Amino acid sequence: DSKIPHIFVTFGASGDLARKKIYPTLWWLFRDNLLPMQTKFFGYARSKLSKDGLRELCHPYMKVRPGETEKYEEFWRLNHYVAGSYETRRDFEMLNQEIIKEEQQQMANRVFYLALPPSVFQPVTVNIRNVCMSQKGWTRIIIEKPFGKDAQSSKELTDHLAQLFHEEQIFRIDHYLGKEMVQNLMTIRFGNRIFSPTWNRENVASVLITFKEPFGTQGRGGYFDEFGIIRDVMQNHLLQILSLVAMEKPVTCHPDDIRDEKVKVLKCIKELELKDMVLGQYIRNPNGTTEDAKQGYLDDPTVPDDSITPTYALAVLNINNERWDGVPFILRCGKALNERKAEVRIQYQDVPGDIFEGHTKRNELVIRVQPGEALYVKMMTKSPGITFDMEETELDLTYGHRYKDSYLPDAYERLILDVFCGSLMHFVRSDELSEAWRIFTPVLHKIERERVKPIPYIYGSRGPAEADKKCEENNFKYYGSY
Ligand code: BG6
Repeated sequence: DSKIPHIFVTFGASGDLARKKIYPTLWWLFRDNLLPMQTKFFGYARSKLSKDGLRELCHPYMKVRPGETEKYEEFWRLNHYVAGSYETRRDFEMLNQEIIKEEQQQMANRVFYLALPPSVFQPVTVNIRNVCMSQKGWTRIIIEKPFGKDAQSSKELTDHLAQLFHEEQIFRIDHYLGKEMVQNLMTIRFGNRIFSPTWNRENVASVLITFKEPFGTQGRGGYFDEFGIIRDVMQNHLLQILSLVAMEKPVTCHPDDIRDEKVKVLKCIKELELKDMVLGQYIRNPNGTTEDAKQGYLDDPTVPDDSITPTYALAVLNINNERWDGVPFILRCGKALNERKAEVRIQYQDVPGDIFEGHTKRNELVIRVQPGEALYVKMMTKSPGITFDMEETELDLTYGHRYKDSYLPDAYERLILDVFCGSLMHFVRSDELSEAWRIFTPVLHKIERERVKPIPYIYGSRGPAEADKKCEENNFKYYGSY
């Protein structure tokens, strides 16, 4: 109901995430009239800022276009800023008083976004529960990873939240679930007859899920070193993609039906072992053209000199069920690589009974998440012309060509809007999270306990050569460079 007032509170309003992602997203949603009519915004942080100070901090990321200035002013008129501590109840009472002034008879629904480091997570959630809950409407909270560091710490966090809120009030963000092509996975799989009969171990040779970034830690070394690439990207973003690729068809599109299937498929995966992994850490590139490239991971002043934190990881998982047993699911991710890319490659098996003297290459269905969203099938065709030669080509749905005029919203736009709508479909449920940690915790502990040394790779390269070898050993055939 668009008449009900809504209050959106960002904790950590002066921080990086708020400035770069949350405020711009709120502004774009507001600009496009997608938020409930009566939404007001509160920023809360320790910094003694004014609303104008906050506006200045956010401005470089807001991408205000000519002709939008009036609307932009209106957006900031609906904003408030409150400075306070995260521990002190009194400060939350003050925030609550400010909120009440903007509500109509305490009717408003309230959203609390915790853009905060884990260290203040507990007091903030307790204070919200004790002081800031909506009186006559609903209250929802949005939280960001890290959701703990391993199975144990994550369980503590889950238990803590469960004492304060119902599961339906908790929106755990994995922003990959807000990306166009990740959301498309379900449609591709379950909205087409063509793929489902071959989506199994009888036809698929291997599945490769890749995340690559062409830059290093860029000053985030302190945060990164505590977590490493396995916790930063693999355990969440890549495993979420795997679940959507591998899960059985949900009974309906209801969020809990979907999440039930995701949990089920994760339960079929055994704890990951070190022998099924390749770990890497980038070193400086003496021929690098940027300052960043001339810095190895260990050259970052915020990273300890003897750090063994991986900045690259590859892991091979087996899904022990009737559909997938024996099909390697290869997850690989890394920083400071040769390109930016996130994609899924479903590689089909060789054609049986080949009559083309070994010229046939395997089919692949490629779902490119970014950059340049695309869906294409690699297939063999007769080379056009008088000869009977064959070549590999693509059935190609590149969004930039096919959907030229479509606006693809940022992941955060979709996800924040989902919170207003109460749709949990693209958020992580606590049992999903606990399965994800079950798979990765033993190997993470082993790496730390035994100080397993990552293989050095050069900034800007494809990562350790051992990783390509591992893919080949796991029934993934390289035909070019992926
Ligand atoms: C974040 C990680 O979750 O995802 C970052 O913490 C990473 O290290 C980022 O850079 C990648 O997100 P995107 O949307 O740019 O692919």
